[in-house]
Amino acid sequence: MRITLGVTGGVAAYKAAELVRLLQQDGFTVQVVMTRGAREFITPLTFAALSGQKVITDLFGDSSGSDANLESAIEHIAVAQRTDLLLVAPATADILAKFARGIADDFLTTLYLASTAPVVMAPAMNVNMWNHAATQENVARLRARGVTIVDPAEGYLACGMTGAGRLAGQAEIVAAVREVLKADRDLAGETVLVTAGPTCEDLDPVRYLTNRSSGKMGFAVAEAAARRGAKVILVSGPVSLETPAGVERIDVRTAKEMYFAVLDRVGGVSIAVLAAAVADYRPVEQHAEKIKKSDAALTISLEPTTDILADIAKNKGQKIVVGFAAETERVAENARKKLSAKNADLIVANDVTAEGAGFDQDTNIVTLFSRDGRDLALPKLNKSEVAQRILDEVVRLRGLLHETTSVKRSGA
Ligand code: CTP
Repeated sequence: MRITLGVTGGVAAYKAAELVRLLQQDGFTVQVVMTRGAREFITPLTFAALSGQKVITDLFGDSSGSDANLESAIEHIAVAQRTDLLLVAPATADILAKFARGIADDFLTTLYLASTAPVVMAPAMNVNMWNHAATQENVARLRARGVTIVDPAEGYLACGMTGAGRLAGQAEIVAAVREVLKADRDLAGETVLVTAGPTCEDLDPVRYLTNRSSGKMGFAVAEAAARRGAKVILVSGPVSLETPAGVERIDVRTAKEMYFAVLDRVGGVSIAVLAAAVADYRPVEQHAEKIKKSDAALTISLEPTTDILADIAKNKGQKIVVGFAAETERVAENARKKLSAKNADLIVANDVTAEGAGFDQDTNIVTLFSRDGRDLALPKLNKSEVAQRILDEVVRLRGLLHETTSVKRSGA
């Protein structure tokens, strides 16, 4: 799990160094972002050495070279997407005000707006600044928006005064981080099986039938499910993608291999997301030797493969089964047909001919057709965001399923 630690300018900035160490001990990867003010109190080098990651200081790179690795001004988008949680400690009155108002005038404030990750802030400041109505209004506004505020402790402050304003203890801040991430892990306890990529159906030792699937959508679902706490089994056709962290991957080549790999593991699974573009037909005959060229026309006979989705959804019990529908026309009609014909709970449909959707793209434009009649048309989104929305819908359907089951039980 990745945490972005924003360090802002206060005497307590040095305490963030210890925080990096504690978070790492807990297994987190920590990316430090420092504001200009923070750099007056502690050098980026301290955090770079502790975190083992380059420290981000500026929005547009730094000509002095301390930030030479910052590749582009849109780096904050990339950091935002990689972040599981944004922690700001210590948080000054200034950063509370900027976050509350949506001011984006440096890397950290821009990252806050660009990220959808949960946010934890641990304020530290002079007691009068903390108690000021302006600060308290900002804190209330942030809390109302879902930001977790770890209240400052009472005690002797660097300014010579005594009262609330000391940065909360590092252990307390780490505990708050853990608590927030736990709430985000809504698939903890679930086992999710995902299929991804194309299949290859051999004609002879050098030729095969396949399709243009890259596997990106299925891999994004596997990654998102693992992040949300699920145990994930990913059955993948031939793709050139890295296995997401914490995911068990089973590589297969043909539709038949994929079918048997799924059958082998589906028993203990509570959610199945079948995103693979499985071949519908395979050559009846696989030639042991290379088919030789001749002047005559060549006819290849194909036989249907097993529909993996339909097969496992037939007796799915309490499982939630999600399928995809790659269409080139009449998307809604075809998707609804697949939903009922295959006994699925959710069909993720897209028009693969649309710009920004379909094969080998990083984005997708899909509509989610649910078993309970809901149609949810999503705008053009990154495949990782589409994956999150699919899982949100799965969680909603799981809720409905549990409701129905408990009604049936109490009625029996
Ligand atoms: N699917 C499967 N096994 C197959 C074929 C398809 O599990 N042998 C699954 C896909 O993973 C996808 C869904 O079925 O989740 C729909 O796949 P798609 O190719 O869109 O539909 P088909 O059922 O093959 O119908 P058609 O090709 O006629 O549109």
